[in-house]
Amino acid sequence: MTVLVLNGPNLSRLGAREPDIYGTTSYDDLVAACTATAGELGLTVDVRQTDDEAELVRWLHEAADAKSDVVLNPAAFTHYSYALRDAVAIARDAGGRVIEVHLSNPAAREEFRHTSVVAAVAAGTIAGFGVDSYRLALRALAG
Ligand code: DQA
Repeated sequence: MTVLVLNGPNLSRLGAREPDIYGTTSYDDLVAACTATAGELGLTVDVRQTDDEAELVRWLHEAADAKSDVVLNPAAFTHYSYALRDAVAIARDAGGRVIEVHLSNPAAREEFRHTSVVAAVAAGTIAGFGVDSYRLALRALAG
C-alpha cells in the first residue's frame, strides 16, 4: 500500500523559507528523506505538495477512495481550513489513517498557530522535529 505524503502551501520553499524556523533542508531533501525512510520500513510513498486548498481536498478524497494512509502537513491550512478538516474526516471514515505532521512546533509559536482544526480528526499529530516528524509518522504507520 502506498502512503500519501501531502504537503500544503509554501512547503515547496523549504530550505529558503524562514530557515531559523524550518531549517535548511530543501523540499527535495524532504522528499528524499521520506522515500528513503519508507524504503527502510517496506512502504512506498507518493510525496506531493500544493499551494491549492482544493487540490489538497481532492488528494484526500483520492486517499479515501484507495483507503490509503496519509502523512499530512497542512501548513497554514491547519489553522483555519474546515474544508480540509472535513476531507481528513472523510479519509479517516473510509478506513485510512491520517497523521498530521509539522516541521516546527506550532504550539510554541504565534497564538494563531496554537489552533489546529485538523487535529481532532487526525489519528495523531507529530510536531517540532523537523524532517524527523515525517520519519516518525511513517514509522507509526509501518508499526
Ligand atoms: C507548519 C506550521 C504552520 O503553522 C505553518 O503555517 C507552515 C508549516 C510546519 O510544518 O511547521 O506552513 O505546518
